[in-house]
Amino acid sequence: MTVIDTRLAPGAIGKPQTRIDGVAKVTGAALYPSDQPLTNPAFAYLVTSTIARGRVARMDFARARAVPGVLDILWHGNVGGQAKPPPAVGGRGKSTTTMESDKVWHIGQIIAVVAAETLEAARQAAHLVEVVYEAEAPSATFGSAGATEQSLAEATAADRQPYKDIQVGDAPAAFAAAPVKVEASYSTPTQHHNAMELFTTTCEWHGAKLTIHEPNQFLHGLRAEVAAQLGIGADDVRVLSRYLGGAFGGKGGTTARTAWIAIAARRLKRPVKLEATRKQGFTIATYRAETRHRVRLAAGRDGRIEALMHESWEATSRPSTYTVTGVDTVCRLYRAPAIQTRVNLVHLDRNTPGYMRSPPDTPYLFALESAMDELAYALDLDPIELRRRNDAQRDSVRDRPYTSRHLNECFEQGARAFGWDQRARAPAQMRDGDWLIGYGCAASTLHTSIDAASARVTLTAQGRVKVEMAALDFGNGTYTVIAQVAADRLGVPIDAVDVQLGDSDLPAAGYAAGSKHCATVSNAVAKGCELLRARIALAATGAADGPFAGRDPATLELRDGTLRGADGAGEPLQKAVARAGGRLEVYAEHIPAGAPADAVANTWQGRFSSVAGTRLPHEIRAAFGAQFVEVRVHARTREIRVARALGAYAAGTIINPVTARSQLMGGIIWGLSAALFEQTEIDAKRATYVNDELGEYLVPVNADIGSVEVLMLPERDPGINELGVKGIGELGITGMNAAVANAVYHATGVRVRDLPIRIDQLL
Ligand code: MOS
Repeated sequence: MTVIDTRLAPGAIGKPQTRIDGVAKVTGAALYPSDQPLTNPAFAYLVTSTIARGRVARMDFARARAVPGVLDILWHGNVGGQAKPPPAVGGRGKSTTTMESDKVWHIGQIIAVVAAETLEAARQAAHLVEVVYEAEAPSATFGSAGATEQSLAEATAADRQPYKDIQVGDAPAAFAAAPVKVEASYSTPTQHHNAMELFTTTCEWHGAKLTIHEPNQFLHGLRAEVAAQLGIGADDVRVLSRYLGGAFGGKGGTTARTAWIAIAARRLKRPVKLEATRKQGFTIATYRAETRHRVRLAAGRDGRIEALMHESWEATSRPSTYTVTGVDTVCRLYRAPAIQTRVNLVHLDRNTPGYMRSPPDTPYLFALESAMDELAYALDLDPIELRRRNDAQRDSVRDRPYTSRHLNECFEQGARAFGWDQRARAPAQMRDGDWLIGYGCAASTLHTSIDAASARVTLTAQGRVKVEMAALDFGNGTYTVIAQVAADRLGVPIDAVDVQLGDSDLPAAGYAAGSKHCATVSNAVAKGCELLRARIALAATGAADGPFAGRDPATLELRDGTLRGADGAGEPLQKAVARAGGRLEVYAEHIPAGAPADAVANTWQGRFSSVAGTRLPHEIRAAFGAQFVEVRVHARTREIRVARALGAYAAGTIINPVTARSQLMGGIIWGLSAALFEQTEIDAKRATYVNDELGEYLVPVNADIGSVEVLMLPERDPGINELGVKGIGELGITGMNAAVANAVYHATGVRVRDLPIRIDQLL
């Protein structure tokens, strides 16, 4: 492993930097989309279905309309034909609908929108809308009557890109013949994102131009999709989302609410503002679907894997074929000569699931990394040693090499820092008074992807820099990372950089998801800065006077407020900028290797332009980590505490160790949360979400989190993108579910294969 090349990090890149938007956030100066001051707004409140399947037979608005201040009520009878449904989640299959018709697909579906002079009036009127349904018995979850199962391959056979199950060698035969095997079923529950910031939408029209204030992870996507729903031009729509209060994938697509609020604003000729409630957020947006897994894993006595079989079931809505299909991750983590996978859909009367916190890897690695732990016990082998013996520098399915992979190094360094050598091999051996102690570990991984993106960079003669792009910061540090890259590349202090984001009138910057946004924006900003440097250098070398006359412009750098030559000769930045024209502005496009030439144009039009790290013909790009957990289980009450968690990661260039650590620590805490707390409980009869509020949807509080330690191993991989940036946002979570379950087994000897792990499973 090589250390980060210092040529990559002459200045602000790689330096710890606190958030440049931190003060604005904690003082309230950062305005979230629903905070936007408006002139004469009306307030909307959603009426949502109280049945999960059937149709709206009749609606009576008399009592609702009698509430003072009520302005308008939208429902399928008056606006149904005015908006097309938004695109299907993930572009897969079909979407459920809302007010296009009387059909009810799921509980909590939008069936009317009330607009009024005040929020209170809108809410009161919404509760007075009388709805008569023709209800049918819904199918709530796995095993419910009426749930229909379909293999993903069958479901997508007619698609342009049908899904194919993975088959390498003869896995059933290899499994049957192998001397050591593990065969087990695992499950993960429904989970909802529950970002602090609710799902809000404010729409205002200025003539034919629509402005949408909405927290969203892809501004140009929302712009294009809402325009298409309303039948207007994308150029007539502007989306503003300058600050977000969390996203986690939940704000990653266009949901039905936006077009209806736009129509309400058009009818009323005034701005309309919607803040959906926490409960409504459970049903008007997406969630992580429940999954089931059947894993068969076999090895020789030497611990080398001989067969891997993974069959999974994922819940989805009636019309959707959305799945997360994490078998790709499962198949590439270890060397395996025989593989067989199958993904199944289970269609239910539910809202369509979607992206949430490393969508494929989190549930699927829970199954695989639990099975690996079980295999280690079956072999009487240390679980880290088992992983070392099965390390794969190439992909087991298509034999492509990783551009870089340091999983073993993560395990080695993580184990040392954690004190893994203090662990007894057998379970239920370590104890501290009444507390049973368990150590568990698991691998984490995340594909490294990147979007095509553009940026405008301006440099004034006074040395001030402005970077503008339609990128998003939902708490991940995008503002700060962009400022660091610009400061680094232009040789100015970080406080000389202004960053403007979150506006679709700015250069398109891709989809803030899939942990790719840092790579996306930093490479685009670096490209813009390079254009500026080249212009300044060209002016300096082309001038008859000055220290650089006649030199090669490629040899000049901007550093410490100076244009510098390789021999140390320098000219102050202000002078160099003045020579080049005084105020320089560039528009730069970064088209990552592997992307088509029109990738940035696609981004502007709201289409995905991602180069996915797992879909390249000749290589795989991914980041890795090793996660360690110490749990303490009370011998009598079986209370489970996580005393310590440690993650060691190799994730390419770390632009900002402060925000990176927060991201990775956040991932660890997410993982603990999923392993021990989070579950959306479903009423099997009514197909409703029962604990649909923060008081009942359990997430950890400070007292639930012990010590959390993050190690970032130096790793340089200029092959993946110019700055060598890998994604980390979701890397931190992917192995944690299994690491906790493995630690619980080590403490107690009880193997829990169904998340979340609760006291009653250990009694
Ligand atoms: Mo994320 S679940 O890729 O926003």
